[in-house]
Amino acid sequence: MTLIRKVVFPVAGLGTRMLPATKVLPKEMLPVVDKPIIQYAVEEAAAAGCETFIFVTGRGKTIIEDHFDRAVELFEALAAKGKDDVLGGLSSDVPKPGTVIATRQQEARGLGHAVWCARQLIGDEPFGVMLVDDLIHAETPCMAQMARAHAETGGNLVAVMEVPQEHTARYGIVDPGREDGPLVEVKGLVEKPAPEAAPSRYAVIGRYILDSAVFGHLDRHEVGAGGEIQLTDAMEKLIGSQPFFGYRFAGRRFDCGDKLGYLEAIVATALARPDLGADFAAVLDQYR
Ligand code: G1P
Repeated sequence: MTLIRKVVFPVAGLGTRMLPATKVLPKEMLPVVDKPIIQYAVEEAAAAGCETFIFVTGRGKTIIEDHFDRAVELFEALAAKGKDDVLGGLSSDVPKPGTVIATRQQEARGLGHAVWCARQLIGDEPFGVMLVDDLIHAETPCMAQMARAHAETGGNLVAVMEVPQEHTARYGIVDPGREDGPLVEVKGLVEKPAPEAAPSRYAVIGRYILDSAVFGHLDRHEVGAGGEIQLTDAMEKLIGSQPFFGYRFAGRRFDCGDKLGYLEAIVATALARPDLGADFAAVLDQYR
């Protein structure tokens, strides 16, 4: 397994698709059952061996940092009440001191720009990028699957899944070459192509393992689809000079940035919980 020591979480987005819930609350803090969406991503990164969690935040997002800090008063109150089980769970959720870093994306200039904001914190080593909206249920967490595959491929690896042709304009789409098990050679990448222009139905999902050479391209601040600096465009420039593969991960992805996807994530997560699943299934039966 390649050790992905650092993972970047771009969390500066406005979350307009989930208004009015996100007027004050960062979309990453919306709960899926009883955990904020971002905590699932942080746990997935930790399971892949991540040692440094880099949040690229924006104005109004400081409660994300607070969430990953010790809540002293709460912890003391729980200890005083003898609620050691709750306290134990909360304490183990807090990353080790010094492992969370937050930096600001000072202008909303796109995903490529957000990742570029972390360049000084990454330096010269392969690193992960996780888009928190994409919640993935998997037996082996998606990022760990990818870290394992990356040990074989080196270079750059992006999670991919097949999407309906009519949805290609929502994603970065791969121009695929040779396929070998879960690996799909990436010959090209296009950000949000119209269905008739899409080179395939392989969409990039929000999990990336990238070579730091991508920063050399992001440095140019070239504007792409939607008038934004696109990570897809910078990645596309690495193709040919470095290995570049799509990884068809085993698991199920939910788009929590979309109302229906978010609702489905809640239902699927609740049904999969040993402490809630059976009772929740009985509740759902009443709505059939
Ligand atoms: C971003 C990326 C896109 C990728 C998608 C995955 O788009 O730009 O290439 O396919 O995430 O969720 P966004 O959803 O931010 O518009």
